[in-house]
Amino acid sequence: MSSIRLLCALFCAIALVHEVSCAEEVLLPRSVKTCKHESSDYSSCLRLAIQESWLSFVKGIPELGLPVLDPMEVDMMENHYSAGDVQGRFVLRNVKTYGLAKANFLAVRPYRSDNIMNLEIDLEIPKVFIDGDCKAEGSVAHYKIGGKGYFNTSMEGVSITWGLEGRIENDRWVIQHFHVYPEVQHMQVYFTDLFGNEDMNKAVLNFVNEYWPVLYKGMLPTVEKHWDYHLTDFVNRLIFSKISASKTFP
Ligand SMILES: *[C@@H]1O[C@H](CO)[C@@H](O)[C@H](O)[C@H]1NC(C)=O
Repeated sequence: MSSIRLLCALFCAIALVHEVSCAEEVLLPRSVKTCKHESSDYSSCLRLAIQESWLSFVKGIPELGLPVLDPMEVDMMENHYSAGDVQGRFVLRNVKTYGLAKANFLAVRPYRSDNIMNLEIDLEIPKVFIDGDCKAEGSVAHYKIGGKGYFNTSMEGVSITWGLEGRIENDRWVIQHFHVYPEVQHMQVYFTDLFGNEDMNKAVLNFVNEYWPVLYKGMLPTVEKHWDYHLTDFVNRLIFSKISASKTFP
């Protein structure tokens, strides 16, 4: 159970990263709040520690190679879509996501046994705005559609559960999966010039804004795999591989 403190280290260590001379090792500074694994408020301690250090993460940590997370910039994302008569492929470029700075952490559920360590983290983001350039090509029945344009998406009431699954190996928390389960209460999508002419674009846009819950559900499995792959690599490479459980939490 003591390795749950490792997470505290992760989310807190960044505060003093500037003082760390060895790039491979991030040490927990004395000023950072730690969570006693034997205490009865273990989960809530963890939740608070994450909440309190979140903004430092969001601002980015150049020393670790952690980029700014609000706005978060992704150069390219590709999705294939296939449902019934609708086949398509989207490429999104220069995608900027705004809103992560306002995340509220609601709960943390730790699980530990032997060398397994999992964490579930519930968070809420009141508003998310995403924009970028997009390219779409596809077909509806036998009609070919497609084009290049600009898009933006506003979301409200975003609730997310992160599921981090990993193992303790050689004094490191090695993440095997980083699941993201997002729910969205409201979504509004805009795009321009995507579907040939303006009437067609408008018709598709109306369709998307009316049926986004179904379309969103259809895209989620693909998107989740993409996130799992990239987020697992991201947190292992930039964070967890640099934190020693035994040194940080003797
Ligand atoms: C989103 O895009 C639409 C259409 O281009 C535009 O009218 C609107 O102002 C954009 N929203 C924001 C918040 O930039």
